[in-house]
Amino acid sequence: MDISQIRRDFPILADESYIYFDNAATSQRPRQVTEAVERFYQTTNANPLRGLYEWSIGATDAYEGAREKVAAFLHAKDPSEIIFVRNATEAINLVAYSWALGNIKEGEEIVLSVTEHHSNILPWQMVAQQKGAKLVYLEPDEEGQIPESEFAKITEKTALVAIGMVSNVLGTENPVKRLAALAHEKGALLLTDAAQAAPHQEIDVTQLDVDFLALSGHKMLAPFGIGVLYGKKSILENMSPFLRGGEMIEYVTRQDATYAELPHKFEAGTVNAAGAVGLAAAIDYLTDIGFDEIRRQELALTQALVSGMKETGHIRVYGSPDPAKHHGIVTFNIEGCHPHDVSSILDAEKICIRAGHHCAQPLMQFLKVGSTARASVYFYNTMEETERFIAALPKVRSTLGYMD
Ligand code: ALA
Repeated sequence: MDISQIRRDFPILADESYIYFDNAATSQRPRQVTEAVERFYQTTNANPLRGLYEWSIGATDAYEGAREKVAAFLHAKDPSEIIFVRNATEAINLVAYSWALGNIKEGEEIVLSVTEHHSNILPWQMVAQQKGAKLVYLEPDEEGQIPESEFAKITEKTALVAIGMVSNVLGTENPVKRLAALAHEKGALLLTDAAQAAPHQEIDVTQLDVDFLALSGHKMLAPFGIGVLYGKKSILENMSPFLRGGEMIEYVTRQDATYAELPHKFEAGTVNAAGAVGLAAAIDYLTDIGFDEIRRQELALTQALVSGMKETGHIRVYGSPDPAKHHGIVTFNIEGCHPHDVSSILDAEKICIRAGHHCAQPLMQFLKVGSTARASVYFYNTMEETERFIAALPKVRSTLGYMD
């Protein structure tokens, strides 16, 4: 992989005085993606799925072509199992409102992990409160890994296991295939939040046998506002619509309506066709590089960050000591320094990281911290950037008046 060649695809990275280490929040976009979006608006723009004229048909083809690309990317059996949404949050809410409210009964349990992002907690709190169901949490060990002994919490009472594939704070990966098999043994379904996994690794929904999977395009080079819900066809077919309105119907009378077939039943209103086209271009870009190369580069960068922080001293890295288990995410605190100060002092060095609770407050409570700093890399980051980042870290404590 020729990183300098790759970086030329990302106009925002041309100013090398900046270091962008906030990739878990959102990735940067290559010109191949932004140009695909521009090309759509300049050559194919019309309202898809409606018009019977050439431009609208072209827009429909582009949109449905993107769906086929996503289906192939995730190894789904059928493109109708791919629902375009705004982001992973919307995908999870769709399942909560359209599947869980109709299927989860009083006394049943929804199994989550303490490491979840709020997006994979709050919708289930709503379902549990409305249905009289209970949230059961799998407790991770100190490294963020869920021990086997916790799997016994998946029982006959479990209706759903909702689990992140990769933690946005610790970078730890959950054994989703294993958990899906355990859920199915007990007659439950499994939803996985793949927002932090899809940008970095190949995902095969058929092989994993997950019932639902959520992802956000913006973390994997695509535009903001386009995401995906994958769902097994047999389950999606029996779910009611989430949002109601244009293009999701079959026939409407004054008092009633019948709904369109999958996937359009779940895509009310004018769709984000340009976003879907951008996502298809992002998938092409990632596929051209290949996930083996992407992971190799991310691992080298993560190793450099973890060992550099260790050598710097006064730094606590959360999660596994093994960089391979971080998926490019290094969450840390510097002794005596608030994470917001860490981020602001690094910002003065033109280094972009995230600081805060990372929308994972139950995990912060588990780690016994209010907040942390987080550096997250992607394949276009360089070893020089990790060196500059590590060299800048001692400035945080010195700026705040510490003498060593
Ligand atoms: N979920 C994103 C993050 O972890 C925004 O930063």
